[in-house]
Amino acid sequence: MAYVNENYLKLPGSYLFADIGRKVNAFKKDNPEADIIRLGIGDVTIPLVPAVIEAIHKATDEMSKPETFRGYSPEQGYDFLIEKIITHDYNSLGIEFSNDEIFISDGAKSDTANMQEIFGADNIVAVTDPVYPVYVDSNAMAGRLGEYDSNEGKWTNLVYLPCTAENGFIPSLPEKKVDMIYLCYPNNPTGTTLTKDQLKKWVDYARDNKAVILFDGAYEAYITQPDIPHSIYEIDGAKEVAIEFRSFSKNAAFTGTRCAYTVVPKELKGYTKSGDVVDMNKLWNRRTSTKFNGVSYIVQKGAEAVYSEEGQKQISEVIAFYMENARIIREGLTSMGLKVFGGVNSPYVWLKTPEGYDSWQFFDKLLKEVYVVGTPGVGFGPSGERYFRLTAFGSRENTKEAIERIKSLKF
Ligand code: MLT
Repeated sequence: MAYVNENYLKLPGSYLFADIGRKVNAFKKDNPEADIIRLGIGDVTIPLVPAVIEAIHKATDEMSKPETFRGYSPEQGYDFLIEKIITHDYNSLGIEFSNDEIFISDGAKSDTANMQEIFGADNIVAVTDPVYPVYVDSNAMAGRLGEYDSNEGKWTNLVYLPCTAENGFIPSLPEKKVDMIYLCYPNNPTGTTLTKDQLKKWVDYARDNKAVILFDGAYEAYITQPDIPHSIYEIDGAKEVAIEFRSFSKNAAFTGTRCAYTVVPKELKGYTKSGDVVDMNKLWNRRTSTKFNGVSYIVQKGAEAVYSEEGQKQISEVIAFYMENARIIREGLTSMGLKVFGGVNSPYVWLKTPEGYDSWQFFDKLLKEVYVVGTPGVGFGPSGERYFRLTAFGSRENTKEAIERIKSLKF
């Protein structure tokens, strides 16, 4: 008899963005004339920049000739890309890594979901709340989170670290000892950030408790203010306790092309039940070599071009474009008297829903009355209730139009 992984049966309904997609498609079917503007899922709309396209074309030609054709990529990624990452993203901050501490992958979603595999089943997991659902679901699938209480919208064995307007979206250290801590900054979904001092508290906590921080830096390119850390490794001691995830999706339009990387420092330690120290870089390398055959040469060449002079210039123009959208959304909603957060170091704007509307009621009102799609905050966790997320990744025209439509609503 083929028994199933019953942890899957405990998962609530469906994945948030799949759920929203279904609701929007059903609405579209009943209202084919509705001109829907989608500011829900954080998918980019501006194509790959010319420097990347040129590199991809060139690499494609190389693959057509026997003398330059390549088969399997190295599982951990090509050195030409890893070296650019180290120089540009880390040496520029005064941080050193060797090539075998960087793992090129097909996305931060898969890496943040898969990383929990190298951790023991009994670890206590903490997440900021609201949170990117992948961290929670992947640990639930592995059986680490106990039972799902649908009334509370919470897992019994998961430690939630509430981040709301009341605490300035700054998570407090947990009261109960935790072993794995997921942090994402600039934050998805709230668009807020932590200062170096605030992040240091977490690094210190992890060091004191032999915990590991899984730090998702997918939105790093959107930081505009000085003094906001671009990497957790800017904090002393972080290499001993933190894994960092980065992506080319949001900064360079690779959401459909797929390329990201994960840093697992050699200093990072895990422990066996009997107290032996284990090098986690070795475990992740072992896992990667077994389960992954590398990102395609063509895609890695495209990602390498992101670091060229033209590539950097071109992507910074795209990022500035999205940040102008974020400003338009922020200012438009503020002028209606709504409380708005994020959107300054992040492509996400997080708003408090008007009195009398919970997250899904607000979602329905926007969809049904003005054909605008956003993401209900409660879909990211219980503390997201009465909040709503809009993304700045739309076209300028759609962004302006969406805000004008929302402004026309009566609450
Ligand atoms: C989001 O909308 O939160 C993101 O697009 C999800 C993702 O990056 O997978």
